[in-house]
Amino acid sequence: MNEIKPEKWRAPSNIALVKYWGKHGVQLPMNPSISFTLDKAYTETEVLFLPDGERNIDFLFEGKEKHGFLPKLQQFLVRIEPYCPWLSRYSLEISTSNSFPHSSGIASSASGMAALSLCITAFEAKMEGTLHDLNKASTLARLGSGSACRSLRGGFNLWGACPDVSPSSDEYAVNLAQVHPDFLELQDTILLVDKGEKKVSSSLGHKLMDGHPYAGQRFLQAKSNTSNLLKILKMGDFMALAELMEQEALALHAMMMTSSPHFMLFMPSSIAIIRRVMELRAEGLHISFTVDAGANIHLIYPKVFSTEIMEIVQHELLVYCHAGAYLCDRVGQGPIDLNT
Ligand code: PMV
Repeated sequence: MNEIKPEKWRAPSNIALVKYWGKHGVQLPMNPSISFTLDKAYTETEVLFLPDGERNIDFLFEGKEKHGFLPKLQQFLVRIEPYCPWLSRYSLEISTSNSFPHSSGIASSASGMAALSLCITAFEAKMEGTLHDLNKASTLARLGSGSACRSLRGGFNLWGACPDVSPSSDEYAVNLAQVHPDFLELQDTILLVDKGEKKVSSSLGHKLMDGHPYAGQRFLQAKSNTSNLLKILKMGDFMALAELMEQEALALHAMMMTSSPHFMLFMPSSIAIIRRVMELRAEGLHISFTVDAGANIHLIYPKVFSTEIMEIVQHELLVYCHAGAYLCDRVGQGPIDLNT
């Protein structure tokens, strides 16, 4: 009898420059979004597919059973069933770990859902003798967590139908080939202002956009920022990128501050960092920030300014970080097949 081998993949997280906030249908975005894939923040997942017809799921997170994650996993498996009907005849033994701390504010759902989806689509391709379909992996990942669909390839990825890019789709993300080489070396230093649990879950956050008084304008703004960002990415104009990226991050928070119920996710330290970054850029330094639905600040800057900016982090910005914690990341190359 053939030994059943597990499927094993590493998938990175990503950070959005144009933000996805608001969805419809089954995990379809109200506007296109663009992110870059991270390098050092990733999830490694191993799945053993047992064809026993039982549909049991064993889930280990960092070696320990994690029951809290099972409902999300069950929902994911139900959602992907139309795409992978064969899965219902299998029990799954899933074992997963992250390269970054749980409370770091990095989207572990993005890397986690991307890694799990890759295990499923790679196993399917081997079983059916077909090519591994990364668009399908991205579609499955989207059904687990929207932004996860942008974690299937390295560099910059666009999720959402967009007239300027063909093909592009609301169902899965596509890789952006026309990116200036300097941007493929962008750095992301994540200042961990708050190490607590998320104060607003993404699912609640997206719902807050239903009936939000500014939703229509926000979706138009994101569409126009997507078109502009595509041009900026080609040109490699960092200062233009900085303006657009900061407007996007602040717009995301403005939506949360003006929804019902409303949320203020910035901490005083987040605002102190943001103000300092804006000052430094006004003085001519190539530095910028983005933020997800939390208080931690991602400092984004070109590699050539790394030494100068890390000195500023050490001397001026670490005081704002919880226990002086920060993570250094950069644009990454995308998932890695760990089966070889
Ligand atoms: O993928 P979700 O449902 O967790 O939503 C992510 C939303 C943001 O991280 C705030 C923005 C984005 O585009 O990644």
